[in-house]
Amino acid sequence: MRTRQLLRLVPGLSRLVRSLDSRERESRLLTEECWRLANENHRLKAASREVRAKRAATEEIPLPPDVLRLMVAGTDDAEWFVTAGQRAAESLTSLLAKNGIAIDTCDRILDFGCGCGRVIRHLRHLPAELHGCDSNPVAMEWCAENLPFGAFAVNALESPLDYDARSFDLVYALSVFTHLPPHLQAHGMRELHRILKPGGVLVISLHGDALFGRLNRAERADYRAGRLVVRGGDLAGTNHCAAFHPPAFVRGAFADGFEVLELAPKGAKGNPPQDAWLLRKRGEA
Ligand SMILES: C[S@@+](CC[C@H](N)C(=O)[O-])C[C@H]1O[C@@H](n2cnc3c(N)ncnc32)[C@H](O)[C@@H]1O
Repeated sequence: MRTRQLLRLVPGLSRLVRSLDSRERESRLLTEECWRLANENHRLKAASREVRAKRAATEEIPLPPDVLRLMVAGTDDAEWFVTAGQRAAESLTSLLAKNGIAIDTCDRILDFGCGCGRVIRHLRHLPAELHGCDSNPVAMEWCAENLPFGAFAVNALESPLDYDARSFDLVYALSVFTHLPPHLQAHGMRELHRILKPGGVLVISLHGDALFGRLNRAERADYRAGRLVVRGGDLAGTNHCAAFHPPAFVRGAFADGFEVLELAPKGAKGNPPQDAWLLRKRGEA
């Protein structure tokens, strides 16, 4: 009642109130519209993130060219490249799980000697930061251009790796130490020990007892005596160099600074018929 009297008494006031009312309404409408747009934007962005994540999980990623597959895997068979790579990733995951280590709890993973990404491509769904390195610059160039889920680096056979000490939860090296002479194996193992976090784990595949039949008489004598056997050491890092690891040698000098959690004979399923070894870096003094 008092408002109505006031409006009548003061000329122009009712016009002013009407205009304030309409501004208030406008401002309210504007605010509502802003909120609607903000929510819509948020919803669209969330939907697009989901689509991108689904696509990344299922997306076809290109195959490396034949020549690169041949150079790294010793065969250019595309189907083998994909299926054996998948088997290797599964066998790595299950060896860890069997020992109470869930691969999806690792923050940083390195594929040492990753070649053209045969195995790491099957781990791209993991939440971990994925890294791969190799001494083959052509393979690393291809990975860097075609595998966007990982970071790839070239390393020289004898140089320190370009990673910080104690920075990886898991390193795996499949069919890598099988192609190195003794001094480069020792160097590689020291480097992998350095970059693993204390308690971090290393999975490696090695030629073991299953390949004893391929050794000549002198090599068999060395192998039986627990000595590392290496052929073609002058072609270090290539498939023309072949190393054979008696389990006694691995448990001794080779795995210095590591605890052996498991030896799975012929257990490296995607790298047959190699043994899979699971090692844990011992705590440092
Ligand atoms: C037989 S291939 C295996 C590749 C891959 N791990 C796989 O299973 O498909 C061996 C790879 O190890 C790489 N390599 C050998 N010695 C290495 C070293 N010391 N540092 C980094 N890469 C190495 C080679 O260049 C090659 O790509």
